Amino acid sequence: MKKFTKFMSLLLAGTMLLGAAGCGSSDTSAEGEGTTAQTDETASTVKTSQEGKLIWATNAAFEPYEYMEGDTVVGIDAEIADAIAAKLGLEAQVENMEFDAIIPAVTSGKADIGLAGMTVSEERLMNVNFSDTYVEAGQAIIVKEGSDIKSAADLNGKVVGVQRGTTGDEYVSDEANGVGVASVERFSNGPDAAQSLLTDKIDAVVIDNEPAKKLVENSEGLVKLDENLTSEQYAIAVAKDNTELLDAINGALSEMKENGELQAILDKYLNA
Ligand code: ARG
Repeated sequence: MKKFTKFMSLLLAGTMLLGAAGCGSSDTSAEGEGTTAQTDETASTVKTSQEGKLIWATNAAFEPYEYMEGDTVVGIDAEIADAIAAKLGLEAQVENMEFDAIIPAVTSGKADIGLAGMTVSEERLMNVNFSDTYVEAGQAIIVKEGSDIKSAADLNGKVVGVQRGTTGDEYVSDEANGVGVASVERFSNGPDAAQSLLTDKIDAVVIDNEPAKKLVENSEGLVKLDENLTSEQYAIAVAKDNTELLDAINGALSEMKENGELQAILDKYLNA
């Protein structure tokens, strides 16, 4: 299907060139043949699934990285998406979905990138490429105030909630880490897990550090433990066959790192 679309657009481009040549139009611009109708010098010619757009797949229940404010997806990743899109001469368009649907959306071409506080992992690298990393993160534990769980070791024999398909899910589900939880409850998102914790259906939630802070901030009666269970890097997922887009994104990211743009976005959302 993707190949076919590519073929069709090549065909279309060819037809248009022929058409243009055929008309013998007199307003020959100095653009030279074969260039696309881009006026902006800096605008790139990276291929995206919809012309002029950068469609980013996310799961907008992950404050401060992506969350809903009314009908709008806001947060660190939303601002990064807008900034990168602008640098590439594209318009960012968000697709909000379940977290475990993001990589399939990228590999199928439904979305151009996955930008969702997503951790680089060996397993994910089998399906997508990742950009340079833009955030260092880790898993944290949330419990109810007064809980007897004080550290990762105390998760032993407990019912632990996670967001389905995340590295937190992987961490508690992996017996090799020696935590030995009684069972893992998989939720569609972090706020649902936190709600379940508040109503004593589960004993703890394991989720990324900064979202853990926000969940605790947003709901009375929960606390985050200080311990970091993992050390992870967030990056942007790109389809393996679109290395041009990957390079362009890395270019934009490194510009944002150098000129302080990225830090300014992080500072806006992360309380020190
Ligand atoms: N960093 C974790 C992972 O990659 C969790 C990401 C969850 N992101 C989200 N937007 N819900 O698995």
